[in-house]
Amino acid sequence: MHSFGYRANALLTFSVTILAFMCAMASLSDTLNSPSPSAQVQVLNINWFQKQPNGNDEVSMTLNISADLQSLFTWNTKQVFVFLAAEYDTPKHPVNQISLWDGIIPSKEQAKFWIHTSNKYRFIDQGSNLRGKEYNLTLHWHIMPKTGKMLVDKLVLPGYRLPEAYR
Ligand SMILES: *[C@@H]1O[C@H](CO)[C@@H](O)[C@H](O)[C@H]1NC(C)=O
Ligand SMILES: *[C@@H]1O[C@H](CO)[C@@H](O)[C@H](O)[C@H]1NC(C)=O
Repeated sequence: MHSFGYRANALLTFSVTILAFMCAMASLSDTLNSPSPSAQVQVLNINWFQKQPNGNDEVSMTLNISADLQSLFTWNTKQVFVFLAAEYDTPKHPVNQISLWDGIIPSKEQAKFWIHTSNKYRFIDQGSNLRGKEYNLTLHWHIMPKTGKMLVDKLVLPGYRLPEAYR
């Protein structure tokens, strides 16, 4: 005859197996989800553009960031971390990445947005490379799941250029 303890143990083992299976399905359905996010960024204004006394270039800009990241959300999504980076090359480094803005999107309802903002983090080049510089604005995201591994991806918005002169 099975004791109560044995039954309880068997039930627990069964629940744990089901739970593990559901977690595996959750991550799998996440992997199968093929999202189609979109983003646009307008540089509305160059507020100022200077060479600092130490020789580094710094620019301040006003941006309109708009994005529809709703398709990144599945029932397994806890939240999405996004950041906008300026990416450009210099003679010393093929890729320089400077984070200009970031945010946490807690729900699908809030994943379609636009925000009118000046750069939250300073856009400073370690040198004097920014005059007339072509750059990309890249929207990166980290999808934090309830279970499974974090997914990371980005959208590259190419073809921006800084002014030729300080102002
Ligand atoms: C920002 O962009 C969105 C979408 O393109 C637009 O609807 C909105 O009016 C813009 N806001 C500003 C302040 O330019
Ligand atoms: C900017 O984007 C273009 C097009 O995607 C790419 O060819 C180029 O390498 C990018 N530049 C940098 C510095 O990442």
